[in-house]
Amino acid sequence: MKIYKISHLAIIATLAIGVFSCSEKSTEQVTEQSGSTVTLKEAYADKFLVGATLGASMFTTPNHPSLALAKENFSAVTLDNDMKWERINPLPGKFNFEIADQFAQLGVDENISTVGHVLFWHSQTPDWVFKDDEGNLLTRDALLERMRERAKMFATRYGSRIKIWDVVNEAIEDDGTLRKSLYNQIIGDDFIEQAFIIADQEMPKDATLIYNDYGMNRIGRRDTVLAMVKEFQQKGVRIDGIGLQGHWGMVNPSAEIIDTTLTLYAATGLRLHITELDVDFLGRDGMTGADVDIEKLIATPENNPYSDGNVPAAAEDKFAARYKEIFQTFIKHQKSIDRVTFWGVTDGDSWLNGWPVVGRTNYPLLFKRDGSAKKAHDAVIDLVK
Ligand code: XIL
Repeated sequence: MKIYKISHLAIIATLAIGVFSCSEKSTEQVTEQSGSTVTLKEAYADKFLVGATLGASMFTTPNHPSLALAKENFSAVTLDNDMKWERINPLPGKFNFEIADQFAQLGVDENISTVGHVLFWHSQTPDWVFKDDEGNLLTRDALLERMRERAKMFATRYGSRIKIWDVVNEAIEDDGTLRKSLYNQIIGDDFIEQAFIIADQEMPKDATLIYNDYGMNRIGRRDTVLAMVKEFQQKGVRIDGIGLQGHWGMVNPSAEIIDTTLTLYAATGLRLHITELDVDFLGRDGMTGADVDIEKLIATPENNPYSDGNVPAAAEDKFAARYKEIFQTFIKHQKSIDRVTFWGVTDGDSWLNGWPVVGRTNYPLLFKRDGSAKKAHDAVIDLVK
């Protein structure tokens, strides 16, 4: 249970683990304390949108501190889970629009760009989507029709209020082969193309349609994405953006590799979106990517060294330097980049507290659990001062 103490400017203290600590602090004070007089969205206003993901609790908990921070600091927002098929349409004919409706309205009220995540993804999609009433796998045409209904449903309900869409997520493997998802098995190798054709026909004409994936620097995946974009362009299949998730480590991919990767994607002429940025402060044993389906590990003192919340200053400095090199590279490519979105607002919101190791206390974002800004936050802002 969360207990909130509320004062002005959305100032909240909570006893809940994983949200804010008990210090009462306004977002205004946070900005002052961080040493920056400008917010991320202000600092990068002439370069690209700076976004963050929002979770359901930020809408269901009155005056959630992360929502206040998001409104103040970010110019784009994405829902972390609540537009995924299993959340918004868990059973045939059953829809949960509560969170998504508030999200779309927030974009209008606060003048923040909203991102639709995600139309078609193999994960967090209920089994019924791929089956008929008798439990048999759908035909290609029936699944395409179901996909069209989903796109139509979003377009009818939100129209131009949601202008950026992750159309297909994670459909290509590290080695560049197509993921053998049920979408791929039922529809065939043109699943991604069909998804973009449907999105083009059903979503607003001014929407940005994105192919999104992790490990976009991996040569296999990269070359398949580049070939796919070229093929779509030649055939006249509309695709507007390439989404690089950006679930990165403290060392890899190097700034040099990020630079090369962005150069190659930018050459397609498509808009580039960094869609899910975080830096895994605690590391993940050399593992790269962000496959949600891997077998997760259990937290131990070795892989979860800062569970008491005390992060050494030297580690904070290293983390700030890592974000600095990443943003230096983004700035170099600012003409091609439309948006850089963090996957979460504060460390407490991050999915990296539960993946790929369950139960860790991770520190991957620019705001601490108590909502205060880190050195990494200031380092990112200092780059454009
Ligand atoms: C994650 C959410 O943050 C978690 O809450 C959920 O349990 C699993 O999915 N790539 C994506 C996102 O495209 O949708 C994933 O989000 C993280 C990896």
